[in-house]
Amino acid sequence: MSGRNAQPLIQAENIIKTYGAMNALNGVSLDIYQGDVVLIVGPSGSGKSTFLRCLNLLEVPTSGHIYFEGTDITDKKVDINAHRQKMGMVFQLFHLFPHMSVMKNLTLAPMKLQGKSREEAEEQAMKLLERVGLKDRADAYPDQLSGGQKQRIAIVRALCMNPDVMLFDEPTSALDPEMVGEVLNVMRELAEEHMTMVVVTHEMGFAREVASRVIFMDQGSIIEENEPKEFFDHPKSERLKNFLSKVL
Ligand SMILES: Nc1ncnc2c1ncn2[C@@H]1O[C@H](COP(=O)(O)OP(=O)(O)OP(=O)(O)O)[C@@H](O)[C@H]1O
Ligand SMILES: [Mg+2]
Repeated sequence: MSGRNAQPLIQAENIIKTYGAMNALNGVSLDIYQGDVVLIVGPSGSGKSTFLRCLNLLEVPTSGHIYFEGTDITDKKVDINAHRQKMGMVFQLFHLFPHMSVMKNLTLAPMKLQGKSREEAEEQAMKLLERVGLKDRADAYPDQLSGGQKQRIAIVRALCMNPDVMLFDEPTSALDPEMVGEVLNVMRELAEEHMTMVVVTHEMGFAREVASRVIFMDQGSIIEENEPKEFFDHPKSERLKNFLSKVL
């Protein structure tokens, strides 16, 4: 794995998140290094999404710290938007702007937030569209696209900001089965290009294949963490054994 001696790209330190009396995260710590492909699995309600959303402060931790590229982004004095631009996020339900063409969806943030010219932003968007096989859909509107196409566009939209890390929350869960593969292929290519990725997923085959590390969460805690082969072939805790027996 690259950069093990270097400073982590993201360092989550003892993250606690409570909603009223409910503890969604019970003190989660995780270091994510440049080029890491971290896959997070676990039962429904275990805190996977909450943790992922804490990494870019879409959810504000109740306590604990998130260091991103050495900066404590949980520090109230930090301009979170500047840092969040470097963290691409892809959700289960795409979140494309329905009233904008694909190209508009892709160029809006680079032009508005990064000061790119239209030409520059469009050129980059076209290159990325070509990579995911959707160059011919630049003028389409989201409702003219399949779920798999929408999700590939959502990934491209995040990539257009040149992020240092990509966060994915169940990017294939809302897709018809025949469209899952095309989205996983794009993610697999990103992993091969050493994009740093944190992926919450139920796709165990994909996790085994692309992960540098797999994390098992249950009841708001990280229970087990390992490289994929060990993780799936020799789970240590009863809870992970039990989980794997249900999902594999
Ligand atoms: N905004 C919220 N208000 C109150 N409780 C919440 C909120 N968001 C999450 N929770 C609770 O926190 C816990 C963790 O939720 P989270 O969405 O992180 O789970 P998850 O592991 O992503 O589950 P799933 O696999 O179903 O997506 C759950 O019990 C959930 O009900
Ligand atoms: Mg979730």
